Amino acid sequence: MRRLSSAAKIEGKTIAFVPTMGYLHDGHISLVKTARKKSDIVVVSIFVNPIQFEQKEDLDKYPRDIKMDSATLKTLGVDILFSPDEKEMYKGFYKTHVEVDNLGSKLCGKTRPDHFKGVTTVVAKLLSIVNPDIMYLGLKDFQQQVIIKKMIGDLNIPVKVTSLPTVREKDGLAMSSRNSYLNQDERKAATVLFRALKLAEKLAHKRVGSADNIKKQMKNLISSELLVKIDYISICNPLTFEESKNIKSPTLVAIAAHVGKTRLIDNIII
Ligand code: PAJ
Repeated sequence: MRRLSSAAKIEGKTIAFVPTMGYLHDGHISLVKTARKKSDIVVVSIFVNPIQFEQKEDLDKYPRDIKMDSATLKTLGVDILFSPDEKEMYKGFYKTHVEVDNLGSKLCGKTRPDHFKGVTTVVAKLLSIVNPDIMYLGLKDFQQQVIIKKMIGDLNIPVKVTSLPTVREKDGLAMSSRNSYLNQDERKAATVLFRALKLAEKLAHKRVGSADNIKKQMKNLISSELLVKIDYISICNPLTFEESKNIKSPTLVAIAAHVGKTRLIDNIII
């Protein structure tokens, strides 16, 4: 990977990078298509990063289809698929981690305390290997892209980051590799996450109620779906993730919930 990247740089070519865990869907594809339009060389990584899963989580069950992904990336004109194996990435007694203070313990970090440390560590490693000019991330994982940008700034990593909008199914459900776990009833129930975000947006625009009141109404709506259990609902500052009392633009409205056994997240900026 390094050799290919250096050779491209010597030829004066720009490199765009899209890190993924594979099982590609239209959300990933929108990042790849933008990368393809904007740069000479497009690198996509597929690596299901073990250290960003909590111990009790679904690492072994995480969906994988490298053949299908590889064919998809070929049709999109991607130059390099970088798919290292676990042993190559975490050799022997692996000891070094990158952690962004505070931000990683809020929102998703409350129930997934090691998650963002795993994400920033692998992204730092991938950036060091791929050495791109620009990296594309999705706003679907809002907290993730804020934390990664902070790491890049703090560590002076020479890469530009662009975050792109969440791609949704027709009924509003945010695309996610984990949606493949949902059975028919769960799939239907899962739309309540986006409906709750839209409700928050509507109430905020009408200026009806404080953040707490809006959260309450979102909770009521979500409780109407028996298959959905809320992990958190947050109305907060999109850079610090401090909870907001009143809504000032821009505010992040974020939800994490279990639909059956599957944990899904979604958010909007209002
Ligand atoms: P993964 O979940 O595979 O997502 C890869 C990239 O696709 C992330 O930047 C994510 O925000 C973006 N993405 C996912 N669903 C999207 C959607 N519906 N619309 C737009 N973009 C979407 O996020 C990860 O992998 C990992 O944590 C990773 C950054 C690769 C580190 O291991």
